[in-house]
Amino acid sequence: MPKFTPDNQLELLFNPDLIPNSVKAELPADLHIRPLARTDYHRAHIKVLSVLTSAPDPGLAAYQHAFDAQRSLANTYYTLVIVNKANDQVVAVGCVFIERKFLRNLGKVGHIEDIAVSKDMQGKKLGFRVIQALTGISESVGCYKTILNCSDDNIPFYKKCGYEKKENEMAKYN
Ligand code: ACO
Repeated sequence: MPKFTPDNQLELLFNPDLIPNSVKAELPADLHIRPLARTDYHRAHIKVLSVLTSAPDPGLAAYQHAFDAQRSLANTYYTLVIVNKANDQVVAVGCVFIERKFLRNLGKVGHIEDIAVSKDMQGKKLGFRVIQALTGISESVGCYKTILNCSDDNIPFYKKCGYEKKENEMAKYN
């Protein structure tokens, strides 16, 4: 079984100090929350995303190219993971990306995307911790609001996380 890899041995997407200590403190001792790492392809990152929607395996090279593309956009992508220390595998993921605006005095908005908790770990407050962490990051980098889209089924979950329903989503798929 793979041994747990500490943060100082990983290439991380962003500074781990941005993850609120209050969230780290609430996680069980066998779990660890940190920014996405360049090697998380090997820790089932894509497999965890597949509980949310279609997430085909892009292969290691394309995965790392996508990671590098996110990292090259400074202060924009905050994708984080929760890792099971026992086997060094990702069990929960989420992202907040930061949009810069011209209105509201050049304000910033945090967009929460791609929240997923592996099936066997659902119902243990990990989704809640991911949203707490992403919301904390969004607030600490100065966003005036944090928003997300979700299905009707997930509205109760996001209400538990302190979010409220506002307006409607429009979509046009290619
Ligand atoms: N309906 C009602 N209540 C819910 C639901 C639900 N669908 N899901 C969670 N809750 C409640 C829990 O009971 C818990 O309540 P409590 O505090 O009273 O005990 C609270 O919300 C927190 O739940 P968690 O245990 O943190 O939920 P979990 O870790 O299972 O994560 C998630 C929730 C992310 C929805 C998970 O079930 C999942 O990965 N689902 C499949 C993928 C998905 O739908 N992702 C969200 C897409 S939206 C987006 O990405 C912006």
